[in-house]
Amino acid sequence: MKLPRQFFQPLAIGAPAPLRELPVRLERMIHFVPPHMEKMRAKVPDIAKQVDVVLGNLEDAIPVEAKEAARAGFIEMGKAVDYGQTGLWTRINALNSPWALDDVTEIVGAIGDKLDVIMLPKVDGPWDIHYLDQLLAQLEARHKVQKPILIHAILETAQGVNNVEAIATASPRMHGMSLGPADLAASRAMKTTRVGGGHPEYKVLADASSSPISGKPDIGGDAPRAIYQQDLWHYTTAKMVDACAAAGIKPFYGPFGDFSDAAACEVQFRNSFLLGCVGAWTLHPSQIAIAKKVYAPDPAEVAFAKKIVESMPDGAGAVMIDGKMQDDATWKQAKVLLDLAKLVAAKDPDMAARYGV
Ligand code: GLV
Ligand code: MG
Repeated sequence: MKLPRQFFQPLAIGAPAPLRELPVRLERMIHFVPPHMEKMRAKVPDIAKQVDVVLGNLEDAIPVEAKEAARAGFIEMGKAVDYGQTGLWTRINALNSPWALDDVTEIVGAIGDKLDVIMLPKVDGPWDIHYLDQLLAQLEARHKVQKPILIHAILETAQGVNNVEAIATASPRMHGMSLGPADLAASRAMKTTRVGGGHPEYKVLADASSSPISGKPDIGGDAPRAIYQQDLWHYTTAKMVDACAAAGIKPFYGPFGDFSDAAACEVQFRNSFLLGCVGAWTLHPSQIAIAKKVYAPDPAEVAFAKKIVESMPDGAGAVMIDGKMQDDATWKQAKVLLDLAKLVAAKDPDMAARYGV
């Protein structure tokens, strides 16, 4: 076991010191760009103004014959654009692929000082993070990179889910984690053919018999039995949120593949937001507005949170507001909403006006 004192030591002589706290940044969406396509690269300066994170995707969805072009295209878009407050990330290929080593060495060598985060797919355990952590430290030292490049893991294998807590705490480089529902479904042998979202056959059917408590039938007469579709991702999202919150890193919902179903995308994103996620991937421009709407607190909730904080200035005791009991714990919940509202307001004048912060 690594001793606590060594946890924050740089892993290579000359590498920047690991961060003790994550930078405070609004990351409502991680917007995926296929960097091998010149037409898409040309849109990056404009997209970078609309999103919180631009990610050059090198892994799945990039054809095998375009892997090198995607890497070169990402380096080009990294150099060509001033990203300002917008994060610049890349999703590299999996560590067991023929491309991962060159992805890391070439990108850090060329644009190590502009790159904020490397998203690492198919993370099975802390050993994957340790490998990339060490390699990044060596490359940062060689190329005199000034700030540490962070690592974001995709939670998309059954083994990764088993090891989620160890992954979250594997290194001070850990930025956060995203749920990867497509690969995870395959890894678990789920019987689906989707990229995220629900499934109409994953449901609960109300009992046909009488309720043992009330003695009344659950449903009246011949009325059809109530049926409710359930969330396939609830368990994993909750497990990931706990692992990330306990480690002080950020959980994200990943991709939603049905671009034609904005309503379902919004519901999937919102479930993750309510459970504790801070953002999601946007694979299509239409999903940017959905993520902006979902991963910012509702103005009515913010107004109520303000009431709680104002009526308990020192965050302790108990008060009644609109018939609801508030105490130290609801004060803390209110603080979460208000802190996020301030972060959103600092970036978005329309939301600042709606929040009144
Ligand atoms: C994302 O990479 C996924 O597999 O869902
Ligand atoms: Mg995947």
